[in-house]
Amino acid sequence: MLNHRLINPPREPEKFVKAAITFLQKHAKDKKVFCALSGGIDSSATYLLLKEANINTIPVFIDHGLMRIIRGVEERENIKKLFPEVMVVDIREKFLPKIYGEEDAEVKRKLFKDAYSDTISKVIKEEKCDLLSDGTILPDIEESFGVKISDLKETMSLKEEVSLKNKNIRGFVKSQHNLDIEYDVEATIQPVASLTKPEVRKILEYFKMPNELVYRKAFPGPALSARIIGPVTSENLKFEKKVHDIVESTVDDYYTEKFGKPMVINDKGEQEPFQAFAATTTDVLLRKVTGIINGQRTYEVPLSIKGEWDFEKLVHFSSQIKGYARILYELYESHEGIYDVLIRSINSIDARTASVTNLPLDLIEEIKYKLFEIPDTKNIYFDITPKPPATIEYV
Ligand code: XMP
Repeated sequence: MLNHRLINPPREPEKFVKAAITFLQKHAKDKKVFCALSGGIDSSATYLLLKEANINTIPVFIDHGLMRIIRGVEERENIKKLFPEVMVVDIREKFLPKIYGEEDAEVKRKLFKDAYSDTISKVIKEEKCDLLSDGTILPDIEESFGVKISDLKETMSLKEEVSLKNKNIRGFVKSQHNLDIEYDVEATIQPVASLTKPEVRKILEYFKMPNELVYRKAFPGPALSARIIGPVTSENLKFEKKVHDIVESTVDDYYTEKFGKPMVINDKGEQEPFQAFAATTTDVLLRKVTGIINGQRTYEVPLSIKGEWDFEKLVHFSSQIKGYARILYELYESHEGIYDVLIRSINSIDARTASVTNLPLDLIEEIKYKLFEIPDTKNIYFDITPKPPATIEYV
């Protein structure tokens, strides 16, 4: 199997789209292309480019049941609104019982990887697709391969890539679900492989997509299992979906009211907020969560602190921690309820590093009150740890 990537394209949207059309027609003209849509910006841009290039494309959304809800709308509904022609493959009944109860982060990732690849393979076979297109972007490649995009050629075999990756094993940070899987297709085709997220957003703007999509916050491949610390259960999944929606939507509303859009580029060039979400678990202070030391993932327990809210001081303190994966600022302590809720809002250029969003205390308090109204909420924390020493997600 080969991988075709558009390398070093022009950055200006109109010129980029032209180059992408030429690239897609060169490799995919008269072929049938499978395109996985996730509801996120990268796969949406990929699909729009395929449509623009008039490539015969089958857009597919895999519904495994762990996608987020935004403003009460499930992702499978949202994606149909954006792209009514999408084929929704519902694997919830088969997938959820497999992941329920699984505690190990890398096993959770593997379950996703297998579910995605099995489903994709099945549809590719049924629909007789020749090529597979996906929204792999620049940081995905550089994090997973440990190489610069300029070290890759436009067309490479999987074998060549595996050997390149093995030479750069120290660059490994975590397993990505969409890389190094072999499918029964001639090749994969990755038109946005050289782009960063802000550049992908510009392409979506060029295609006049709605703001909800252009500024959509990144969401991990392993979905809410990256935000449910420890084993996923049907109960904690329901809870996580609710609290997640509260945090993401409330932060979105605040930015939209203040800046006219849910995300801005700040003085440091970061997308602010890049991600805003809730994570959950029982007894978070006893749970090992991910941190990052010298570029490598570690698992440590978090430390909770309380007292005066001084953003700069707290963030500075947590950027120096050793022996703990994060510092959680305690907003609310309770002896009732079941699940601890962690509010996480970070700014970032490309997810490789992240700073904590300086949300006003009033907003944090508003979120706290909304969370507190959800039955089963126990303690509420605000995660004040930058990446590094923390990671963005918890598993
Ligand atoms: P971390 O937690 O490593 O996250 O600081 C960096 C960025 O990657 C997303 N993320 C993932 N994406 N598979 C993915 O496709 C994964 O296993 C995964 N883990 C984290 C995360 O949301 C953030 O944007």
